[in-house]
Amino acid sequence: MRVLVVGNGGREHALVWKIRQSPLVKEVYCAPGNAGIAELADCVPIDTSNIVEVADFAQTITADLTVVGPELPMVLGIADEFQRRGLRIFAPTRAAAEIEGSKAFAREFMQRNKVPSPGYEICPTPEDARAFLDRAPWGFPVVVKADGLAAGKGTIIVKDAVEGKAVVDQMMTEKKFGIAGSKLIMEEFLPGEEVSFLVFSDGAKVVPMVSVQDHKRIHDGDEGPNTGGMGTVSPATNLSVDVHKQIMQEIVLPTIKGMAAEGRRYQGVLYVGLMMTDGGPKVLEFNARFGDPETQVIMARMRSDVLPVLQGVADGNLKDIKLEWAKEPAVCIVLASKGYPDTPETGKPVRGLDALKGQPDVVVFHAATAARDSGVVSVGGRVLGVTALGANLDAAVQRAYEAVAKISFDGMHYRKDIGQKALARLHAPKSAS
Ligand code: AMP
Ligand code: GLY
Repeated sequence: MRVLVVGNGGREHALVWKIRQSPLVKEVYCAPGNAGIAELADCVPIDTSNIVEVADFAQTITADLTVVGPELPMVLGIADEFQRRGLRIFAPTRAAAEIEGSKAFAREFMQRNKVPSPGYEICPTPEDARAFLDRAPWGFPVVVKADGLAAGKGTIIVKDAVEGKAVVDQMMTEKKFGIAGSKLIMEEFLPGEEVSFLVFSDGAKVVPMVSVQDHKRIHDGDEGPNTGGMGTVSPATNLSVDVHKQIMQEIVLPTIKGMAAEGRRYQGVLYVGLMMTDGGPKVLEFNARFGDPETQVIMARMRSDVLPVLQGVADGNLKDIKLEWAKEPAVCIVLASKGYPDTPETGKPVRGLDALKGQPDVVVFHAATAARDSGVVSVGGRVLGVTALGANLDAAVQRAYEAVAKISFDGMHYRKDIGQKALARLHAPKSAS
């Protein structure tokens, strides 16, 4: 088979790495890819949001399957474009991807389908938003969200009405995120720990992946602004078998069924961002795609061939596919550029990559990298995702940080506490309950 992967991040490197291992696959292409992906696939410089050009390319190479990483092409209708041309694609349609593309749609959908969620109000005008902040029915903090896609920057947690109104001005009046901020969603702030719960769905059947915990804040101890994700561990150690069942029964299955009932049959990855609250798991957000850096640890732990499940989703027929997973936990540590998440420095030579090649149970997934004559350089915020498996979580964390110590670039920074909360929970004395 000939497979085309769309995207250029660590998530896509992990997908290409796993797809390459499939005995069903002969050739892998990537649009546009990065320096790490280029070692495994033929990279072509096509912008991921140019869905017509991507489809033209898939047609030219007669791709048997195209797998899409990022949300923007999904929301722009890449699956619809491919389906119109009779091309096979792993991505939800535009109508299905709205579950990520519009937070207002997603919240109203959750309410219609009784999916556990925080309180929320949709504010179509700045006056509504300001009036909401004056009332603040759940108190502060309040979570302010731009309705549309804002490259992961559209959610701001505000501590009082003054701060909230400044965000309203930025998003609605100054249009910081363009039309994404034409509506705002105000949400009840849920305290707790987050879990990323991803499943494959063929529109009716669902195959869950292993659970993951991301670390969203830029600094140790969950301080500083939100990022796309600074590191992950899998499994999430705060998810019991019972809660897993509850998430499937109360959240995932009603969502897949509800989407089908509303004429938005959901074929793709459904990524459920959950807050584990005292009142049970509640949905913070749905994403229509694989997570980044969730995919790095998920692919590192997947023992089954990934191709049959990708094809089953694309064809709307997962049959009885069961996935096998490594028992060993996995950890991914993101190495970021100075200035990330706001204004990352770029063009810095990356040192130490060769020393890590061929090490057992360690893979360095590239994100924002490019190959130059002089070697690999950084080209964006999240540069690499150092991923390791270990016999237990302690061993995985240790192995990942030992690998990180071999890599350097000017301004490189990373969190030193990835996995620490999970480890503290594992090592805590068991309570009587
Ligand atoms: P989102 O833009 O919806 O993906 O949210 C980004 C991040 O903001 C989440 O991963 C959480 O850390 C935080 N967040 C979003 N919604 C809430 C909420 N209702 N309560 C607490 N934190 C939230
Ligand atoms: N790691 C968070 C995300 O992919 O949205």
